[in-house]
Amino acid sequence: YVIGIDLGTGSVKGLVVDRNGKVILEAAENYPLHHPEKGYSEQDPADWIKGTKLVLKQLIETMPELKERLSGISFSGQMHSLVLLDQQDQPLRNAILWNDVRTTKQCEEISETLGDRLIDKTKNLALEGFTLPKLLWVKEHEPDIWKKAAHFLLPKDYLSFWLTGNKQMERSDAAGTLLLNVMEQEWDLEIADAFGIARELLPTLTASIDKVGTVRKSVCEELGIEGNVAVFAGGADNACAALGAGIVDQNRGLCSIGTSGVFLAYEGTHEQNYQGKLHFFNHVIPNSYYSMGVTLAAGQSLTWFKETFAPQMSFDALIQEASKSPLGSNGLLFTPYIMGERTPHVDSQVRGSFIGLDAGQKLNDFTRAVIEGITFSLKDAQVLMEGIAGKQFEEIVSVGGGAKSDLWLQIQADIFNTKISTLKTEQGPGLGAAMIAAVGCGWFNTLEECAKAFVVYEKEYYPQKSAVEKYQQLYQLYQQVYPQTKELCH
Ligand code: XUL
Repeated sequence: YVIGIDLGTGSVKGLVVDRNGKVILEAAENYPLHHPEKGYSEQDPADWIKGTKLVLKQLIETMPELKERLSGISFSGQMHSLVLLDQQDQPLRNAILWNDVRTTKQCEEISETLGDRLIDKTKNLALEGFTLPKLLWVKEHEPDIWKKAAHFLLPKDYLSFWLTGNKQMERSDAAGTLLLNVMEQEWDLEIADAFGIARELLPTLTASIDKVGTVRKSVCEELGIEGNVAVFAGGADNACAALGAGIVDQNRGLCSIGTSGVFLAYEGTHEQNYQGKLHFFNHVIPNSYYSMGVTLAAGQSLTWFKETFAPQMSFDALIQEASKSPLGSNGLLFTPYIMGERTPHVDSQVRGSFIGLDAGQKLNDFTRAVIEGITFSLKDAQVLMEGIAGKQFEEIVSVGGGAKSDLWLQIQADIFNTKISTLKTEQGPGLGAAMIAAVGCGWFNTLEECAKAFVVYEKEYYPQKSAVEKYQQLYQLYQQVYPQTKELCH
């Protein structure tokens, strides 16, 4: 067996997977998020370790044969979040998370100092969530802590350090720091030097399937593990989610609608230049990449709508009602910028809108408009990929909340004008982590081979011609809403 650990923002999950790719057992533990000030978001790395230990204990207690038959462990991790360690490898402060937005000033500094070189080297814009701005914030605001900083790690790499005693940083995650030259897959020392990041701070870089070490003796004893368990580096959660959904070649895209929404595509080379309009990171597959657009409030827009206007209804009932509204929601159009937006408009100030209110509209029209608006916003990323890179998706794999309703899946097929598939069992990034361990253990030669064996698709939804045409017209209207309303919010 192998275990995939998904170190998320709300919880850590563990999946036990067998050689056929079957998920035999799972366990999860929640941990708190701290918001000491508005816009701050932090977590105590000790909570990740406590949670992971409990998850592993639970898995091993439920399935004692794991004590001898566990071959490997790997990870998927929340991206960008900064873990700072002192000389003795102790965390110097809480981790500053990917969704913390205190670093606007540092982002401006980075953009001004590097200009176009930032995108040339890192393929990304300086965004508050990324790690370099967080390092600069600590340097500026907490000089005593900065003086003691000897290493920095990302969450899942800190976890593998705890398990093995070896410090390293895996490249698909390092890509989200703004310190990695994404093409050369090495630290960019010019960037590090420009911002006074000592070279000693930068950890050794590894590939996803690299063996980091074996589970330390003291941890084995605590958990009752008897065999030698190999630990593999793992990957960033978005890369692992892509792997777990079989996004291992050009033909398939991924649409993931959770709290936020992600539209993601495999990139075989680093040649494509989206000029920062999309995120562009190293994939877990060696020498491959992925591009990605993010809608900050995707599922969150629907949750907000339900809690505000229909708190007594279940999601299922609300969406069922929406199917009574016709395509186009009786003239109502929604933009999901209720938390600002990342793709294609990098704009934290803009806010959402309902446009086209009519006295005849009902709750079901509003619900459908929200669903359509979220999907249009993800289409924006698809359009960038098709327009700039000439991509043509044969299929888009839909996961998350948006994949739970036939209505929404058909809307995705019609708005994306592409066949939509769902996964037979959705395991999220944890399955990608388990697949990395499976390849690390030698069960398969490559991650692509493992994906063929482990990823099973279920339902299919095809675009309907007349719906596609109507949505194309509505999408043109949708695209006009941002430029016409942004000034109202600034
Ligand atoms: C990606 C991002 C999030 C985190 C969530 O750029 O910020 O998707 O990876 O864990």
